[in-house]
Amino acid sequence: MMIHTNYLIIGSGVAGLTLALRLAEKFPKKNITIITKSNTDESNTKYAQGGIAIVIDKNKDSYQKHISDTIICGDGLCDEAIVKMVITEGPKRLKELIEWGAKFDKNPDGNLNLGKEGGHSENRVVHHKDQTGYEIERAILMQVCQKNNITVLDHHFAVDLITEENYCLGITVLDEKTKQLQTYKSDFTILATGGIGHLYGHTTNPVIATGDGIAMAYRAGATIKEMEFIQFHPTAFYEASTGSKFLISEAVRGFGAYLRTRQGHRFMMDYDSRQELASRDIVSQSIDLELKKSGDDCVYLDCTHLNPESFKKHFPMIYEHCLTSGIDIGKDWIPVVPAQHYVCGGIVVDTNGKTSVSNLFACGECSQTGLHGANRLASNSLLEALVYSGRIYEYLATPALEIKTTDYKISEKGKTAKPEIDPEYLAELKPRLQHLMRQNAGIVRSDNDLQNAKDQLLKWKNEMEQMEKTYQISVPFYELLNMITTGSLIVSQSLKRQENRGGFVKLKKLSV
Ligand code: FAD
Ligand code: SIN
Repeated sequence: MMIHTNYLIIGSGVAGLTLALRLAEKFPKKNITIITKSNTDESNTKYAQGGIAIVIDKNKDSYQKHISDTIICGDGLCDEAIVKMVITEGPKRLKELIEWGAKFDKNPDGNLNLGKEGGHSENRVVHHKDQTGYEIERAILMQVCQKNNITVLDHHFAVDLITEENYCLGITVLDEKTKQLQTYKSDFTILATGGIGHLYGHTTNPVIATGDGIAMAYRAGATIKEMEFIQFHPTAFYEASTGSKFLISEAVRGFGAYLRTRQGHRFMMDYDSRQELASRDIVSQSIDLELKKSGDDCVYLDCTHLNPESFKKHFPMIYEHCLTSGIDIGKDWIPVVPAQHYVCGGIVVDTNGKTSVSNLFACGECSQTGLHGANRLASNSLLEALVYSGRIYEYLATPALEIKTTDYKISEKGKTAKPEIDPEYLAELKPRLQHLMRQNAGIVRSDNDLQNAKDQLLKWKNEMEQMEKTYQISVPFYELLNMITTGSLIVSQSLKRQENRGGFVKLKKLSV
C-alpha cells in the first residue's frame, strides 16, 4: 500500500511534535503524518526531569555566560556559532511552548523559578517540578490532537528510508497491529527518533531508545558523527538488574545534595573545584574511579541535610520513587550509579536541520548539530530540539521550496510469505549485545576492547542480515539490527578518536 503525505515526521517526542504543530498551523491545507513506534507519548521527552536551560534573568545571567558554560562543558569541540545561535533563540522557543500550554514553576513574585544543574554557572533551568518532560509532552500532544491536518500513527515502526540518487522519497513502515509493510511517499521527511539508551541496557532511557533513526540514516548514506561521545548520567537510582533506570535529577545536586562513598567521604571535593556540580562527564568518571577503587556497586546521594518538605515540593516524583524503594530521603542516602543517558553525536545536520541526504531532515537527540561537542551541558537537549524544530519549520516555510519527489517512482516492497524468526534468538542476543557495549564501550575504553567489540558486532550484523533474507521482519528484529549498527558506529568512531575529550576516555597503550 502506498500513501502520500506532505510532511512525514518519524517520532513523537518534543522534536517531532513541535515541528508538526508549527507546520500544521502554517499549512492548514497540507497533511502532516507522524509515525511513532509505541504509544504516542512514549519518548525520552516524557521522562525529562531537570528542565530547559534558558537565559531568563538578565540581571544575574547572560547569553555569554550560558554560551561559555556550554563550550567549557563540550571540552573544546562545540561549534561556537551554533552554540550562540541555539542559546540566543531559546527565549523565543520557550515563549511558544508556554503559548501551547506548558506550565513551568514560578516564584511567589510570579517570575519563573530557575534551577541549577552541573556545569551551569547560574540558575537558569526552567522546569515543572521534577516532571518537566511529562508536562511538555502533555501540552504539545494536546495541541497536536486538535489539529485536523495532523495524523498520528502510533504503533507504526519506521523500517527504512527510501532514497533515490541521495534523495529521500519517504519511508517503509511496519504497522505493528496488522504486521503489514506500508510505503509512505512524502514531500519532506524528518527523523526525530531520539536516543540509543537500550544499546547499553543500563540506561535512564525508556525502551523505545534503540537508535533506529541513526541506523536508518546510516543505511541511507547520511553522515553520522561523534558517536563516541556517549553521555553517562552520574546519578541513576541503583538497581542490580538491567533495563530502564529511574533518574535522580542533577537538579537534586543543584538543590544541595552531596555525593558520598559508602564510608561517607564527599569524594567530588577530590576531583573538581565545582564539587557535586562539576559537569556530568567529570562526575561520572569520578564515580567510576571510586567504584573501581572500592569494589562497591554504587555511591550515595545524601539529602539528609536538606529540608525534606522543600525537597518534596521540588521533587515529588523522586521523593515518592525513593520512598517506595525503601529510602526516606530525610534519613537515608540514595544509592546511585552512572547509567547511559544521552548520545551527543548522531546524524549531521546544518543550521536548517538538513542532513547530507537531500530532502531528509533530522531534529532532536538523533541529530548532531555541533551544540554539545564532547559532552552535553545539562538541560541543553530540550532547548536544542525546540530551536531546531523552529529552524526546520522556517526552512520548510520558505516560499517556492522545490518538491522533487514527484520526479521519482517508488517500487513497493513485495510481500512474500516467510517464516517467523525464533523470538528466543532475539531475546538471547539483546542482553549479550548490551553486556558487550557496557564492558567494551562504557565510561572508560581501550583500543583492545573496542576492536574486540567491533569484530563481534560485525559477526552479529552479518548473521542478522542473512536472517533478514529468510525470515519475516519484526520490530524486535529491526530494533536489534539498529542497535548493532549504532553500536558499530560508536566503537569504530571511538577507535578513530585519539585524544580524550569530555565524555570520551580511552586508556593509553602502554609503551614497551
Ligand atoms: P524522543 O523524545 O526520545 O522521541 C523519539 C520518538 O521517536 C519517540 O516517540 C519514539 O517512539 C520514536 N521512534 C524512535 N524510533 C522509531 C521508529 N523506528 N519508528 C517510529 N518511531 C520511532 N534533556 C534536557 O534538556 N533536560 C532534562 O531535564 C532532561 N532530562 C532527561 C531525563 C531522562 C530520564 C532522560 C531519558 C532524558 C532527559 N533529557 C533531558 C534528554 C531529553 O529528554 C531528550 O534528549 C529529548 O527529549 C529528545 O527528544 P526527541 O524528540 O529528540 O526524542
Ligand atoms: C537531569 O534532570 O538530571 C537530566 C537533565 C538533562 O539530561 O539535561
